Amino acid sequence: MARKIVVTSALPYANGPIHLGHLVEYLQTDIWVRFQKLNGNSCYYFCADDTHGTPIMIRAKDEGIKPEDLIERVHTEHLRDFTSFGIEFDNYYSTHSDENRQFSELIYNRSVESGAIAKKTIELAYCDNCKMWLPDRYIRGTCPRCKAEDQYGDSCDACGGTHQPTELINPVCANCGTEPVRRESVHYFFKLANYEKQLKKLIEEGYTQTSVLNKLEEWFRTGLKDWDISRDGPYFGFKIPGEEDKYFYVWLDAPIGYMASCKNYCDRHGLDFDNVWNSDEYELYHFIGKDIMYFHALFWPAMLMSANFKTANKLFVHGFLTVNGQKMSKSKGTFIKAETYLNHLDPEYLRFYYASKLTATIDDIDMNLEDFLLKINSDLVGKLANLASRSGPMLTKKLDGKLGKLDDQGKRLMEKLTAAKDEIIKNYEQLNYAAVIRTVAALADESNRYFDARQPWTTIKTDPETTRTTLTAALNAVRVLTIYLKPVLPMYAEKIEAFLNIDSLAFSDVGQILQEHKINEFARLVERVEKEKVDAMIDESKDSDAKQVTPPQVTLDEPIEAECTIEDFMKVDLRVAKVVLAEAVEGADKLLHLELDIGGIKKNVFAGIAKAYDPQELVGKQVICVANLKPRKMKFGLSEGMILAAGPGGKDIFMLNIDQGAQPGQRVH
Ligand code: 2FM
Ligand code: ZN
Repeated sequence: MARKIVVTSALPYANGPIHLGHLVEYLQTDIWVRFQKLNGNSCYYFCADDTHGTPIMIRAKDEGIKPEDLIERVHTEHLRDFTSFGIEFDNYYSTHSDENRQFSELIYNRSVESGAIAKKTIELAYCDNCKMWLPDRYIRGTCPRCKAEDQYGDSCDACGGTHQPTELINPVCANCGTEPVRRESVHYFFKLANYEKQLKKLIEEGYTQTSVLNKLEEWFRTGLKDWDISRDGPYFGFKIPGEEDKYFYVWLDAPIGYMASCKNYCDRHGLDFDNVWNSDEYELYHFIGKDIMYFHALFWPAMLMSANFKTANKLFVHGFLTVNGQKMSKSKGTFIKAETYLNHLDPEYLRFYYASKLTATIDDIDMNLEDFLLKINSDLVGKLANLASRSGPMLTKKLDGKLGKLDDQGKRLMEKLTAAKDEIIKNYEQLNYAAVIRTVAALADESNRYFDARQPWTTIKTDPETTRTTLTAALNAVRVLTIYLKPVLPMYAEKIEAFLNIDSLAFSDVGQILQEHKINEFARLVERVEKEKVDAMIDESKDSDAKQVTPPQVTLDEPIEAECTIEDFMKVDLRVAKVVLAEAVEGADKLLHLELDIGGIKKNVFAGIAKAYDPQELVGKQVICVANLKPRKMKFGLSEGMILAAGPGGKDIFMLNIDQGAQPGQRVH
């Protein structure tokens, strides 16, 4: 009986383009989904953009647009790239949707009722200047271990070590360079340990591949910790019910996005969501990368358990992509965006190449560019397409395009080909696509050997009917091999179907033989890959990094800030101030430390004018100072005011200077 299956891939973040690393997962999933459909099962493939969180909020701010506009634009770009690669979702939705808000609230409320949520006061980093809580990645400073400068709050790129943001030496806000302060706040936590027994049982029952069990056991051994599921505003996400300025952490609503995408699809297609998502009638599988296993093997099933939803039948975990044996690198041009790839190469090369490398393990897969050229040209073009291009045109040009019947030798060839069906199905089912490609390549070799042995290019001169018999077997071989490859090469398969003049092929068609049937004119199937095109793609990837620095759709370097009223502005108390002391600040080449006299009151100020003014020339000058600015602790000391100076930066900063006719402390307007 046909199975009913629901499949998801991890939701890509809505703040960046799809690249070849992402495509490992979407192609792995798409091939599996297509295989299920072609093998007679009902299968829905749901995905969405992961739209919430601090990076998306900051990215939108940097681009001078609203987060809603950013995620809408990125959604269009993501879907365009996926579609170009033949990735066919049944629904590609967004986590910023009503369905997702409703499910997030429902699951949260049910977890509260199950006693799975606790409130705790914790201390976190906050930037007083940006008025923002700082996630670890937004704090930078000197690595406590190797002393490399400008490292993230959670890990060091130089020595590879991990640390707490509190351990960084001279920590600063990545956004503005101010030293963060520690602040207390009440957060909501999900009590993961409440579900330890159920999670262990789930995993024992085969929730993941066996190759990831060690990692899971280690997590259980070190103890399941409470999980912080809230973030204080400003934050782009869903508000927590009953709270004014607290939001669900993006990782709470992201996997719920799988359900939201399914719900949205069901509503539009008259299907019962509860049946599709939450009944045993449907199997459920999540495809993910190994980096997000903790979320999908522990948090996500525990959340579902707490809210009385079923958990997935299985997680399919894959490894990362390396290019030429190394991490993708922007400087080497191996950080290749989907869009850049498509400017140079056929998407089905990548589908074929990834398939030839993918197995069910979590090992990384390497895209070696020489091997890529070789595999496409020798296997896809040289073995598979070649069999069709040698047989089809001969039949249409010389033999009226009419297939004949198989002789015994042809039947034997077809038996060999059809006998591989079960093994191929098993390998697709078990995600062992590399084995499928190996089998298909071997069968293509066999078919080409048959063709060569029968020498149709010679017999055509003397014995057209024998030639017709040969070509009939060769084209039937093409047809069966096409079925086997159709999950991997859907566009190639469509071209073969058009040329063989047949309906859409499925696995159930493997046993049939096409005889005494008229085929259509042959059209080219796939071109050889040229090395120059691969080189051009790498070159463009190097260029596009530089271009990325300028965000698109920006008319001003920085957006104009929210309006401030004249009343707000009048709060600024401007006074004449005399510079008593001016000196460079060690470790901050843009800052000068100034001591100002505002009519008997002394103020310390750190001003970003070091590139524009020599400290010596400032002493004794009268400047304008914001005298009522709330003191702010900076990395180098307390700053108690601000002097009026403006300009594009560097040497071009101009200070207001009123040496004539004014007294220190005098108010100015
Ligand atoms: O790691 C990531 O790219 C996340 N955006 C994946 C989310 S998967 C799911 F939970 F939504
Ligand atoms: Zn800041």
